[in-house]
Amino acid sequence: MATITCIDDLKQLYRRRVPRMFYDYAESGSWTEQTFRENVSDFSRIHLRQRVAVDMTNRSTATTMLGQDVAMPVALAPVGLTGMQSADGEIKAARAAERFGVPFTLSTMSICSIEDVAEHVSKPFWFQIYALNDDDFNRRIIDRAKAAGCSALVITVDLQILGQRHKDLKNGLSAPPKFTLPVLLDLATKWRWGFEMLGTKRRFFGNIVGHVEGVSDPSSLSAWTAEKFDPALNWDRIRRLMDMWGGKVVLKGVLDVEDAERAAEIGADAIVVSNHGGRQLDGAPSSIRMLRPIVDAVGNKTEVWMDSGIRSGQDVLKAVAMGARGVMIGRAYVYGLGAMGEAGVTRALEIIHKELDTTMALCGERRVTELGRHNLLVPRGFSDGWE
Ligand SMILES: Cc1cc2nc3c(=O)[nH]c(=O)nc-3n(C[C@H](O)[C@H](O)[C@H](O)COP(=O)(O)O)c2cc1C
Repeated sequence: MATITCIDDLKQLYRRRVPRMFYDYAESGSWTEQTFRENVSDFSRIHLRQRVAVDMTNRSTATTMLGQDVAMPVALAPVGLTGMQSADGEIKAARAAERFGVPFTLSTMSICSIEDVAEHVSKPFWFQIYALNDDDFNRRIIDRAKAAGCSALVITVDLQILGQRHKDLKNGLSAPPKFTLPVLLDLATKWRWGFEMLGTKRRFFGNIVGHVEGVSDPSSLSAWTAEKFDPALNWDRIRRLMDMWGGKVVLKGVLDVEDAERAAEIGADAIVVSNHGGRQLDGAPSSIRMLRPIVDAVGNKTEVWMDSGIRSGQDVLKAVAMGARGVMIGRAYVYGLGAMGEAGVTRALEIIHKELDTTMALCGERRVTELGRHNLLVPRGFSDGWE
């Protein structure tokens, strides 16, 4: 591909370069994928107010998230198996984020371990934890994140059990992949990926393997999830995890006003309005639709962020103008990583930044912190009118 101008170009390249199993793992939602699709399509229902003859000089996309300076209101979301999209993928993404000046969140289900990533960056990153039914493991992993200098704990609250993605079951998703005939045929055309993967030792769940006893098959995400994730999670247990951590906490995966109120009540420093990129409850509304009522309910008590469906700087602007303090991106950076490694993550961030900056200018705004609902034309009934 000659020139990469948008996130979709990175996605096309990613599709050509990364084994089908891992492309499908990222590029799918649960069951019918209704929520996965609507996360993206609902952004295009919102329009922007074009303003003219406004001084557009000296623009700034800088702001803060959790009190931390960020070059734009975008953080890299926790994404499991990132090190299968590109060898040492978590390290590459963390470095690209650090250089760009945006936060990186490491998933519990990463390939590179917390310690691996910490060794390769110079500033603190955030760590995402899934609440497990094993307090001993919870405590140990939280202690490891503290020892590695992580500056915030992102507790994911929308995955007590795993939503079903048909393709993962059909593809036999595992890390590393099992060498069946279809996998080998696919790998024959993805030689660059295979070559780089042979050059690293990081091919298993780095935070899990060697740290958990009694898990029969840690190569399989669904097997481990079924055994260890906590179907009995409740607000008391979330509060217990927050106490174990004792620092800044983000609760990720809130999509309902009542839950947002509970999250604010127990003292979350930020919440992420999210449906897990359409990977959990298929049929749930898109995150961008639920953002406004949640901001109205708790925006003065906690930072409200959102994720799911962001593929451009225009999407970032729409979310921020709707009231989000910041957003997280998942697939948009994974496409870049799979396409071009660390440089691809940087490219994804550059694209989103340029789009955000230019869109801001054409909306007649100079500061990302001054965006608001006055910049948007939202169709009537977009966020309400449910029965
Ligand atoms: C391939 C993939 C793996 C993910 N793994 C995790 C994870 O380990 N922990 C987590 O909290 N969220 C995980 N998520 C959800 C993301 O953090 C984020 O909510 C979602 O990607 C946002 O939607 P977007 O991809 O449309 O930006 C994952 C998402 C994808 C696409």
